[in-house]
Amino acid sequence: MPHQQSDQKDAESGLAGITAGHTSICSLEQTLRYRGYAVSDLVQCSFEEIAHLLLWGDLPTAHQLEALTERIQRAARSIPQTVVCCFQRLAETSPQTSIMDVLRTGVSLLGQLECDNGPNDAPHSRDLSQERMKAEQLLGQVPALLATWVDCLRGEPPSHWPNKPLAPALLEKLCQTKASDIAATVFNTTLILYAEHEFNASTFVARTVTSTGSDMHSGVTAAIGALKGPLHGGANEKVLHQLMDIGVPENIEPWLARKLNNHEVVMGFGHRVYKTGDIRADLLGDACHRLIYSDSSFEPHHKLEKLALKLEQLMLEKKGLRPNLDWPAARIYHALGLPINLFTPLFVVARVSGWTSHIIEQMGNNRLIRPLAKYIGPSPRPYVALRDRQEIEGPLPKAH
Ligand code: COA
Repeated sequence: MPHQQSDQKDAESGLAGITAGHTSICSLEQTLRYRGYAVSDLVQCSFEEIAHLLLWGDLPTAHQLEALTERIQRAARSIPQTVVCCFQRLAETSPQTSIMDVLRTGVSLLGQLECDNGPNDAPHSRDLSQERMKAEQLLGQVPALLATWVDCLRGEPPSHWPNKPLAPALLEKLCQTKASDIAATVFNTTLILYAEHEFNASTFVARTVTSTGSDMHSGVTAAIGALKGPLHGGANEKVLHQLMDIGVPENIEPWLARKLNNHEVVMGFGHRVYKTGDIRADLLGDACHRLIYSDSSFEPHHKLEKLALKLEQLMLEKKGLRPNLDWPAARIYHALGLPINLFTPLFVVARVSGWTSHIIEQMGNNRLIRPLAKYIGPSPRPYVALRDRQEIEGPLPKAH
């Protein structure tokens, strides 16, 4: 009997509740922690400090932070000309393409140009410092890919990457204006809270790819594909479309009734793991409030904010569901003046830190990830030779 009896419950429902491996990077018990530190404390850090914590295992000293910030900036200025030319061509031929596809292609191309074939030494004597360097390189290159694409769409050559930490630098590049302190701080908070989240779908994909002995760029490329889906990273863009769709407070109740009657999900609510609330949504919700009421320039966003809070209240009353982090993140990005199609790519920029940390952890203690499936198809049946198969009239038979 090839299938061993598992003492875990049957995994037929999206692996919910199944422990699929070990990690020392992130835990969700009681509260969300990165390497033992509560995220509620970590939100005061810079994104680079968090990247150091995730990749290297501890918060950096001032000297280490300065060095890492510089390495990330250098990486952001290292997009090969081949990639720039490819993006310029793509921006002419398919400007409407999803920016998630652009990033997926960009990372794949970077891996090809670097001839990344994964760690080439034996698993037990593996020196992962090379892989950490690749990860740091990607931390700078991925936001630079995003900024390069935006420059290409504007028909401009890639502009210089600012001499600043990642959050203010990227915000300045995307908005083409210097970010205010509060804008950069709140943007930085979104990156920290998007950085890592244990065995979420895209991270699990990255670890699975890595477990075959494949390379970091392949793992990140696959993870971007997984994050694109609206039930995962793609939710933040849908959140804003939803709010725009509702438009005015009088529409909220009928809109929600329609959604729930049709058994459609409301984007930005619910979570596979958090059933009583997502700490990231609380922290970002506060940050969103601070941003939007910080000065009069954000006044046009007050209406949308009130709409969001009303829907939040109704979702709790009618469905008992609380928001996840995409709910406030979408409103923050909108208030910062970022176009909606950049929201999920910004999630990528942050999550590269988590993905690459998991890829390195997987490389350091690898065993092929290969679960079992419970077979639910036809019972054993005799083979029918091609000449003896009956032609069937009408619609094609349904696959099982
Ligand atoms: N809107 C409406 N109903 C929702 C919902 C939502 N956002 N999220 C869950 N539900 C409903 C489910 O349909 C289910 O209802 P049922 O019992 O009548 O079938 C019930 O709540 C329980 O859902 P659950 O099984 O716990 O959800 P899941 O773990 O399979 O899915 C998500 C988790 C995240 C995929 C789901 O909540 C969702 O699709 N949310 C919207 C997308 C989103 O915001 N994604 C970002 C996640 S960080």
